Amino acid sequence: MTPQEFRAQFPALDDWVWLDTPGAPPGARPVIDRLEHALDEWLSGSFDWADWDSAADSARAQFARYTRVDPRSVATLSSLAEAAATVVRSVEPGKTIVVAEDEFRSVLFPALNHATSNSLDIDVVPRTPGRSRTDSLLDAIDGSTGLVMVSEVLTNDGERVDLDKICNAAHSNGALVFANLTQTLGVLRSDLSQHPADFVAAHGYKWMLCPRGTTWLVTDPSLHELDPLIPSWKTVIPQGYFGGPYTPSQSSSRCNSSPAWLSWIGARSALDVIERIPETSGREHCLELAATFEVAVRNLDFSILNCGARSHIVVAAPPAGREVSAAALRERGIRATVTENKAVRVGFHYFNSLTDVDQAIDAIVDSITSSSRESP
Ligand SMILES: Cc1ncc(COP(=O)(O)O)c(C=O)c1O
Repeated sequence: MTPQEFRAQFPALDDWVWLDTPGAPPGARPVIDRLEHALDEWLSGSFDWADWDSAADSARAQFARYTRVDPRSVATLSSLAEAAATVVRSVEPGKTIVVAEDEFRSVLFPALNHATSNSLDIDVVPRTPGRSRTDSLLDAIDGSTGLVMVSEVLTNDGERVDLDKICNAAHSNGALVFANLTQTLGVLRSDLSQHPADFVAAHGYKWMLCPRGTTWLVTDPSLHELDPLIPSWKTVIPQGYFGGPYTPSQSSSRCNSSPAWLSWIGARSALDVIERIPETSGREHCLELAATFEVAVRNLDFSILNCGARSHIVVAAPPAGREVSAAALRERGIRATVTENKAVRVGFHYFNSLTDVDQAIDAIVDSITSSSRESP
């Protein structure tokens, strides 16, 4: 599928230059059609709840095919935080959890909460200006480390953490790695068959175009027998409704959440859409657009916050005394986020084009104003 064919599935892109997929993308037509059909069935009473209930499990199998992993290694959860809270409980007593101080809260807070509740050591790794998150984490990993928790890309700077290096360092010290791919799966990679992390999770509502409430957690159940965070009728096989015995599933589905039906119905259609993006050329397309945008904003004297490897997400601070508002960009048809620190944040999906980059740069030039910020 070409970028143009992909783009044609998003009616919103007739009206907007969409650079805000790090926040959320617009709906893809096949996903919205499927959800509207489900709502109609619900309204008319023609739906079959047992069929709806099977959507999460069908989406689990479909996700396994898309990522080329064994379906037995995949669990379906509601949020990334739930995946992190599940995995953090596998840290060995006496070992330390390593996490960056500016990590996304759905990773950082489960780590902090678990460490506090269980009196475990946690190394919240400070970030030094000019030093990459990858290098900061590598410095912190040593023989006392039990679990490293890291997002491949964060939207506060767009660095693509070198997960190969992190996993090598962790594994050679006998530690495990939890990798959050929420901002990368579906755009920078799809094949998880050789992924070096012990636990991989991604919420599907961003680059994978799903409704919210659709998170996958992948781990080899023969290596890591996770303790279910929320045991229920969905975490045992065969599935039943009443009474015992309680025997957690031998597959990773032992960690399943009770599914939000409509979200998983939408996820099935979203996977149909996303799996048609060619992995290598799709990644290159998005990285090239980000690199082009970076050069153009540098020429406007913006500074790039990422001090590590580049990704499809660019976060750029305006020159001193100048600012751009998201509202002003929106008036010019550009959807992007301006962060708390007044940096412009953009992200490129396969539906974006060079014209989008040009239009965004024109809008930034048109809308930049003197800063209303008070000096510290
Ligand atoms: C890096 C990252 N991970 C995860 C999430 C979503 O977390 P959760 O599923 O806990 O809402 C986001 C949302 O912005 C994110 O940026």
